[in-house]
Amino acid sequence: MNPVLENINTRVSVREYTQEKVPEETVRELLKAGFRGPNAMNRQALAFAVVENKEKAKEYSDRAKDLRLDGEKMKCDPNQHVIDMLSREDYNIFFNSPIQIFIFASPEAVEPVEDGSIAAENIMLAAHSMGLGTCYVGFAQGLGRDTVFRKDLGVPDDYTYLAAITLGRPSGNTPVKPRKEVPVLGWIR
Ligand SMILES: Cc1cc2nc3c(=O)[nH]c(=O)nc-3n(C[C@H](O)[C@H](O)[C@H](O)COP(=O)(O)O)c2cc1C
Repeated sequence: MNPVLENINTRVSVREYTQEKVPEETVRELLKAGFRGPNAMNRQALAFAVVENKEKAKEYSDRAKDLRLDGEKMKCDPNQHVIDMLSREDYNIFFNSPIQIFIFASPEAVEPVEDGSIAAENIMLAAHSMGLGTCYVGFAQGLGRDTVFRKDLGVPDDYTYLAAITLGRPSGNTPVKPRKEVPVLGWIR
């Protein structure tokens, strides 16, 4: 199979990691792959932050869980599954991965969400091609408004938080999750 398609089709979200260190040059290569993505009006307005510290990662996971649980409980129809999962003391939203990558956009970005999502997928696919595992972590979203997290990582006040990705060497074999038939709506010829 075409190696790009093979890479796309075999990527999985990895939720179990070894503690093996990922070399800094590898991480930088991945950030470059993220930054290399298409971006609205070529503003190149994304910025990245990396956490490679177990204690800090646990602190940020706990903070993100609290923020998400507060939000969930305020909904008129809270998601009980999410509440149960995040209420578990031992649930780490980053799965004890050795590295977490965060993506932000400067005010220069025209379409920050789209730019960030594309960068995230570039990073995840590039990591997979190197035998590394990743998982996009939507539960980290609350960190975007957490002043301690932002200050620790030197994120300017006017930068928008976009995404969090775990990174590390997978410790097991996660099976590929099959997809449904691709829904194709119209196809005008
Ligand atoms: C926007 C977004 C948010 C996600 N948030 C989480 C998350 O917080 N925790 C998690 O374990 N997986 C998260 N995922 C991963 C999805 O669960 C995963 O991509 C999906 O189940 C398909 O599995 P696969 O990536 O292994 O193919 C997220 C994915 C996306 C795109």
